[in-house]
Amino acid sequence: MQMYDLILKKRNGGELSGAEIDFIISGYTRDEIPDYQVAALLMAVYFQGMNSRETAELTMAIVNSGTRIDLAEIPGIKVDKHSTGGVGDKTTLVLGPLAAAAGVPVAKMSGRGLGHTGGTIDKLESIPGFNAALEPGAFIRQVREINIALMAQTGALAPADKKLYALRDVTATVDSIPLIASSVTSKKIASGANAILLDVKCGSGAFMKTREDAAALARAMVDIGRQVGREMMAVVTDMSRPLGHFVGNALEVREALDTLRGQGPDDLRELCLTLGSHMLVLGKITSSYETARAKLEELLDNGEALQKFKDLVQAQGGDPTVVDDPAVLPEASIKLEVPAPRAGYVVSIDAMQVGRSAMLLGAGRMTKEDQIDHAAGIELKKKPGDPVKAGEPVAVLYTNRQHTLAEAAAVIAGAFTVSDTPPNPAPLILETVV
Ligand code: URA
Repeated sequence: MQMYDLILKKRNGGELSGAEIDFIISGYTRDEIPDYQVAALLMAVYFQGMNSRETAELTMAIVNSGTRIDLAEIPGIKVDKHSTGGVGDKTTLVLGPLAAAAGVPVAKMSGRGLGHTGGTIDKLESIPGFNAALEPGAFIRQVREINIALMAQTGALAPADKKLYALRDVTATVDSIPLIASSVTSKKIASGANAILLDVKCGSGAFMKTREDAAALARAMVDIGRQVGREMMAVVTDMSRPLGHFVGNALEVREALDTLRGQGPDDLRELCLTLGSHMLVLGKITSSYETARAKLEELLDNGEALQKFKDLVQAQGGDPTVVDDPAVLPEASIKLEVPAPRAGYVVSIDAMQVGRSAMLLGAGRMTKEDQIDHAAGIELKKKPGDPVKAGEPVAVLYTNRQHTLAEAAAVIAGAFTVSDTPPNPAPLILETVV
């Protein structure tokens, strides 16, 4: 088999066989096929696409490039949840303990943030002492003991994805549905869960800008699940505005704790209840969505989900007093209020711009090597639909960096659109794909 012939075939709109896809992925993982040929193939896929069989075979070739986690020693149906990434998306911090408290074994691998989107592991690491670098044995033992463990994804899992993603990033081939779908699902399949719930974000703060593209990505991923024998379902949710009122690692932990206490913002609570109810049904804890939802509401309101978060933090070396006293979280030395430019109603808050501003304050990474400041971030005092007076604060910036503060404030001011008439905000939950 020659890589040249496979590039030509895909460039001309042909279908690659499973053996051809395996040849490309295994050869690339072993450094036997050069970047420039794989880059050409990725561009051919970008323009010609892949059918669902090719996408599923690409996914499994990526899974087979590395090790797989075997969760068989953990009794029950292991259900994983994955978000395609957003701004202020602290859902896993609430949903993980909530689903675990309801009886779903949560053995979850998560990533770190890159660019304008945050990562669950960075958020957890803002808790003093929290250790996300678990050995596989300790990870499985912890789930057996307390029904939940959250660890940083290891490099041994789907190494081909790491190489492919880095190449896509520099060849303008990230936003291709078969490439995103195979990248996301390969890591989830390799991390061993029986069932996978995908939260596919759409809007300015997400990879997929339109609902149609997000639904197509959701469909591509659910189809992969069907072909490879893993139960998958997807919920398409709005990310044109940030989720909740806080963006930034320690600030998001505080908001997640409020939500676990039965308080917290309505949008975050609603998303956690929706996704959590699907997780309970996928995990066969309850047979109906409605029963699941009632059970989860009870666990948020009676403190059991909060206690599960405390158990998780304690088991992974973190300071459990964070649950009762969030003051143990790092705090920024500089706080700056950003005023409303005029009176009216907040019509929209551009999530991408909020993410950019948070990065300027130190909450995110431009490159994988950057250090993040766990205390940095943004509080959104107003959300779409809220009335504002001229000069009233719409946001508060938190940082330890003076030199980017003015730019971050200008970006946040530009993220808000205020008008005379109240908007009709888009629903948070857009559709479900099974
Ligand atoms: N997240 C991933 O893991 N892969 C992609 O291709 C895009 C988002």
